[in-house]
Amino acid sequence: MDKKLTDQLNKLEQKFKNSGQDMGSYLDGLLYDKYLTYWDYIHLDTLLSLQIPRTYFPDEEIFIGYHQITELYFKLIIHELKQIIDDKLQTAQFFSQKVERVNRYFRILIDSFDVMIRGMEREQFLKFRMALLPASGFQSAQYRMIEFYATPMEHLVHPEVRKDYDSSFGIEEMYEQIYWKRGATDRDTGDKTLTLKQFEFRYTPRFVRIMKEVEGNTLYHKYLALPEAEKNNEELIKELRKFDVNANVNWLLMHMGAAFRYLHKEGATILATGGTNWKEFLPPSFQKIQYFPNLWSDQEKEEWGKQWVTHAFNSEK
Ligand code: HEM
Repeated sequence: MDKKLTDQLNKLEQKFKNSGQDMGSYLDGLLYDKYLTYWDYIHLDTLLSLQIPRTYFPDEEIFIGYHQITELYFKLIIHELKQIIDDKLQTAQFFSQKVERVNRYFRILIDSFDVMIRGMEREQFLKFRMALLPASGFQSAQYRMIEFYATPMEHLVHPEVRKDYDSSFGIEEMYEQIYWKRGATDRDTGDKTLTLKQFEFRYTPRFVRIMKEVEGNTLYHKYLALPEAEKNNEELIKELRKFDVNANVNWLLMHMGAAFRYLHKEGATILATGGTNWKEFLPPSFQKIQYFPNLWSDQEKEEWGKQWVTHAFNSEK
């Protein structure tokens, strides 16, 4: 046996010995093991079996597929946010490298949103969407989790009452005032829709657990806790601001572009949302969410998303 192989075997033996295992049995296992294939490794058959339309309209499959792709990217985004939250080294380099990844995923989502905006026939959409009520992307839990990991609750309460809250308030109290609880409400009565009620029922316990887990330790706090020199790192500040704009302006605007293309009709009601208040809820200039309000001037916060919204509204006419 050559020296390299003997070395490898010795190391392996040591590894198994350290955990009280017998290397010989594992070698037998290796002998009988099947070779790993691409399709088994990434569970391709399962993945491709998950696009199940509820109607016969072919474009519904695009709608399902793109939502699933988005959820996978949300998962990757959360994966990076958690690494920052768990990090103990506190270097600007680590921090900005992870936020850069988050921004890369958001860029892909923003750039690809025209799969929704242009990639489906409106006539088909308006019909198959009726078969999906009261489900809505509004019920994306991962989208909310990104917010919980990124910033404290006092930044997420509705802008009309935000000035009345600060970190001394309880999590549950602020959760009741979170901005999205005023979305997915009935446009005429202001009542919560079933979409919102079901979402709260399904996810509130999980959301509260996450909010408590990261209380005082969100991305916002991790940034503030950096040593002074790291905190002033320009690259990091640039990436954090970009994250804020990607998540809280640009993605919202692309998404709103889709809502306008399919659901907006001058002087008429389009039923495919179940008659919700989406026009008052979705614009970033109304939500005014910044994960890192400390990185923006008062004027920038005041004008949050405005220019873009005007642009998005005008381009529809
Ligand atoms: C044709 C495509 C789409 C249309 C017409 C559309 C429409 C809407 C509407 C009208 C709302 C407001 C809530 C409501 O009134 O029900 C909403 C919210 C939402 N949708 Fe979509 N949507 C589309 C695609 C997507 C996709 C692909 C995702 C990805 C997961 C998504 C995620 C969300 C999220 C996260 C919210 C809540 C936004 C917020 O809180 O600001 N939507 N959508």
